[in-house]
Amino acid sequence: QQGPKRVSPTGRPSAAADADSQTGEYLTTAQGLRLHDTDHSLKAGDRGPTLLQDHHLREKITHFDHERIPERVVHARGAGAHGTFRSYGTAAGLTSASFLSSEVETPVFVRFSTVVGSRGSADAVRDTRGFATKFYTDEGTFDLVGNNIPVFFIQDGIKFPDVVHAAKPHPDREIPQAQSAHDTFWDFVSLHTEAQAHTMWFMADRGIPRSFRMMEGFGIHTFRMINADGETSLVKFHWKPRLGVHSLVWEEAQIINGVDPDFHRRDLADSIEAGAYPQWELGVQVFPDTGDSTFEGIDLLDPTKFVPEELAPVRPCGLMTLHANPRNYFEETEQVAFHPGHLVPGIDVSDDPLLQARLFSYLDTQITRLGGPNFAQIPINRPHAPVNDMLRDGMHQVADHTGVAPYRPNSLDAGCPFQAGAESAAFIDIPQPVPESAKVRKAPESFADHFSQAALFYRSLSAIEQRHVIEAYTFELGKCYEEPVRIRQLESLANIDRDLCEAVAGGLGLSAPEAEQPVGATDRYPSVSQVGQTWPVD
Ligand code: HEM
Repeated sequence: QQGPKRVSPTGRPSAAADADSQTGEYLTTAQGLRLHDTDHSLKAGDRGPTLLQDHHLREKITHFDHERIPERVVHARGAGAHGTFRSYGTAAGLTSASFLSSEVETPVFVRFSTVVGSRGSADAVRDTRGFATKFYTDEGTFDLVGNNIPVFFIQDGIKFPDVVHAAKPHPDREIPQAQSAHDTFWDFVSLHTEAQAHTMWFMADRGIPRSFRMMEGFGIHTFRMINADGETSLVKFHWKPRLGVHSLVWEEAQIINGVDPDFHRRDLADSIEAGAYPQWELGVQVFPDTGDSTFEGIDLLDPTKFVPEELAPVRPCGLMTLHANPRNYFEETEQVAFHPGHLVPGIDVSDDPLLQARLFSYLDTQITRLGGPNFAQIPINRPHAPVNDMLRDGMHQVADHTGVAPYRPNSLDAGCPFQAGAESAAFIDIPQPVPESAKVRKAPESFADHFSQAALFYRSLSAIEQRHVIEAYTFELGKCYEEPVRIRQLESLANIDRDLCEAVAGGLGLSAPEAEQPVGATDRYPSVSQVGQTWPVD
C-alpha cells in the first residue's frame, strides 16, 4: 500500500517535484513558505545580535546539523550505478524465479565497495571489494550481496565482529585505514587459520583491481534453487566481467591513491557517462542436491572454500549492463539497503553458518543506519513488485495506509491477500530435513582443512603473479611490528607453500619455519591445474 513508485524510464528514481530537483522558480522553507533571503540571518539592528525568532535560520541550521547518517559498519565507501539484467532463460531447469527462468529484462542497482576503509578513504587500496546487486523483479526484490573474491575469511557469522575488529584501524590511534598492514589483522589471520585462503586471494593482484568494471563477483555461499517441477539443486553465483579481470600493480596503486583517491568511482561514473556501459555475465555453478551438501569432497556449506571451475563449470544465465549513474549519491548509493535474505520464489538459502548470521545482521544494522524500520519506503529500496504488507507506523513512516484491520484474516476490510491459488506465486521455503542431533557449538570436521585451497590458488598463478604475492606479504607483514605474530603467519605460509614461505621470510629477515601439516593442493585436487577465468568472455 505504498504510493506509486517514482521511477524514470531508466529505472532510476526520479524527482517528484520541483523542490526535489531544485528547479523551482523560488526558494521555500520545508513548509512551502516562499523566502526572499537565505543569505542573512535576522538581527536586532544592523550589527546584531541575531534573533532566536528567525525560524528560517533555525530550520536551515537544524537540518544541516542532522545531514549525516552513520556510515556502514563495513563497506562504508562505495559507488553505485543503475542498469538492467537480461536473462537468457537458460536457468529455467534450475529455478522458477521469473527473472532467471524466462527471457525478461529486470532493472538493477549495483553498489561496489571497499570493506575496511571509512567513507572518505582511498579507492585503490589492497582490500576485498563488495559487489552487491539489487534485482527489482516482478516477484519482489532479490539481492545478491557478494564480493570480488570467491571465499570468505571466516566460517561462522559469530566471528564477523571479531574479524572486523581485527581489520579496522587500531582502537587507540585509529590507524591504519588499510586492511592488511597492521598487527591486529595478522594476529587474527594467523590465529584463525581458516582466514588464510581469503588472505591469499587479496595479497594477490585481485586485492587491487584496475576498475570495478574489471572485477569478477561471487555470491560465495551455496544457495538452493527449486524449479517449477519442485526439483532442487545447489548453486554458487558468479559475475564475469565482459572486460576481463585486470588489476593494478602495487606501485601504480600507491601513486593513484595520492593523485586520485576517487579513481574507481570516477572510472565507473565516467565510463557510464561516455556510453561505455560496463557489462557482466551472471552464471551459476550447479551441484546435485544429494542431502550432504558436499561436492567432490568440498563441503559446500564452508564459505572459505570455492569449487574450481574445472570441477563445476559456470553456466551463463544472463547479462547485466550498467547504463545510468545515480542522480543523487546520498539518496541512492548511501541509502540503498542490501540484504542476503531478500529472496524470490525459486531461490533459497543453504545452512552455511556464515550466511545464516548474515540473515540477521543486515536488517538489524539498517534499522540504525537508516533511522528506523521504514527504510524500504526510500525510493531506491522500494520493490518494483506491488507491496501489501501489514507493517505499520514507526519512525519515518511515509506510506498512506488505509483500512482499519492490519491483520489477517479479518472481516472488516475489503479484500484479503490470500486468495485461492495465490500460494503458487508465493515464496515457499524449500523443505529441508533438520538433522537429528544434540545442539552443537563447534565447527564440523569437514571445515578443518584451512590450507589446501590457499595452496591451490597460489599454484594456479603465473610466475609474475606469484612474485606480486610474495612482495605483498613482505610489504604488509613488514608493517606488523610484533615479531611473534609475523612468525606465526610464516608458519601458516609454510603449510601452504614452502617456496612462498621462504621468500617472504627472507624479505623480512627471518628464517622460514617448518610446515606443521603440509597439505599439498595437488594431493587434494589432483585434476585441477588452475582456477577462475576459464569461461570465455567474447
Ligand atoms: C555490508 C558482502 C559477510 C554484515 C556488506 C556489503 C557487501 C557485503 C557487498 C555492502 C553492501 C552495500 O554495498 O551496501 C558480504 C559477503 C560476506 C559478508 C560477500 C560473506 C560471504 C557478512 C557477515 C556479516 C555481515 C558474516 C555479519 C554477521 C554486514 C553488515 C553490512 C555489510 C552489517 C553493512 C550493511 C549496511 O549498513 O547496509 N557485506 N558480507 N557481512 N555486511 Fe556483509
